[in-house]
Amino acid sequence: MTPFKAQKITDDVFWVGAIDWSLRDFHGYAIHHGTTYNAFLILADKITLIDTVKAPFKHEMLSRISSIINPEKIECIVSNHSELDHTGCLPDVIRLIRPEQILASTMGQKALIEHFPIEQEITAVKDGENLSLGNKTLTFIETRMLHWPDSMFTYLKEDRILFSQDAFGMHLATSERFNDELEFGLLKREAAKYFANILLPYAALIPKMAAKLESLNVASGIIAPDHGPIWRKDAAAILKLYSRWAQLKPTRKAVIVFDTMWQSTAKMAAAIAEGLISKGVKVELMHLGASHRSDVATELLDAGALIVGSPTINNNLFPTVADTFTYIKGLKRRGLIGAAFGSYGWGGEAVKQIEGALDEMKVERIAESVKVKYVPDDEALQNCFNLGVQVAEELLKRTQ
Ligand code: FEO
Repeated sequence: MTPFKAQKITDDVFWVGAIDWSLRDFHGYAIHHGTTYNAFLILADKITLIDTVKAPFKHEMLSRISSIINPEKIECIVSNHSELDHTGCLPDVIRLIRPEQILASTMGQKALIEHFPIEQEITAVKDGENLSLGNKTLTFIETRMLHWPDSMFTYLKEDRILFSQDAFGMHLATSERFNDELEFGLLKREAAKYFANILLPYAALIPKMAAKLESLNVASGIIAPDHGPIWRKDAAAILKLYSRWAQLKPTRKAVIVFDTMWQSTAKMAAAIAEGLISKGVKVELMHLGASHRSDVATELLDAGALIVGSPTINNNLFPTVADTFTYIKGLKRRGLIGAAFGSYGWGGEAVKQIEGALDEMKVERIAESVKVKYVPDDEALQNCFNLGVQVAEELLKRTQ
């Protein structure tokens, strides 16, 4: 007897995942409240497990399954996504259970074979293919590049549950399993952070995915992602948020990202913020000594402008600024306007490097960069204020 129990979603479907209360870093993404690895057990004629959990949580998942059935009764395992937080314990679970069938998308089949020495055959399923579990039916929906080549959803028709792997999920460890038990503001913040840090590079694929889901009318059913709460009530809310975020529509919000050595760049950032605020633009001022790169990515999701500042250190960007650029460049936030600024002692190369990085991100630089030697005087701070005003005026024009 263990303390881990399965949690009922419908009469025949149970959550059998794991709660990782202590996780604080997910490949570079700062997590403030842990996460869950969700796995689901379908008690159909053919008992089926949807996804597994990260390797160290195998015992927790098997214990939850054991609280309702002997795990060896599982006949079918579906792997919706090959990333190790959902498959880490899969080889061990396969060895233990010996299921009749292991199913994945075509790319999932390939990825699983490339990840692990799995002795049993993995069957590839096609987009739109149905599988009878006797008294229930699964439909597989390919969602390639949302967010890996192998990604797919599985829909359980009779219970109207969409098992959506990472999509519609969030990193949030809670004792509650369902969205209607938690405050919507918290869910929206964490889902936005997840979208901005995991799915954003593939945002253009969201409308096609949404169209596929429309025919299944998932908005009025249950959406069960692989992380965070299950959308049991008002699944339409998260679908609506995804449609909005995927548009990458700029708003009247500017994100100023900077770091500082002797407070010169910090003073410049504050003056730029004042210029933006004077025109009614919302500002998020992010000192990288106190803000994580993944929080910068989240703030950019609904921003209209990105303004970046750095001191020059040994002819280079300040390390935290370089780190943030490396991270956010890959996330491909498009449609922003912006500018560069910074202080220096003798070379001043950092501002040039910021300009290059903004250009790579396709941020349209609409104001001349401001560069200050040593410490900004009143005139320099006025120039920073004016930069803020210039960015704000352009943003107001573009968001009318
Ligand atoms: Fe939760 Fe892409 O793994």
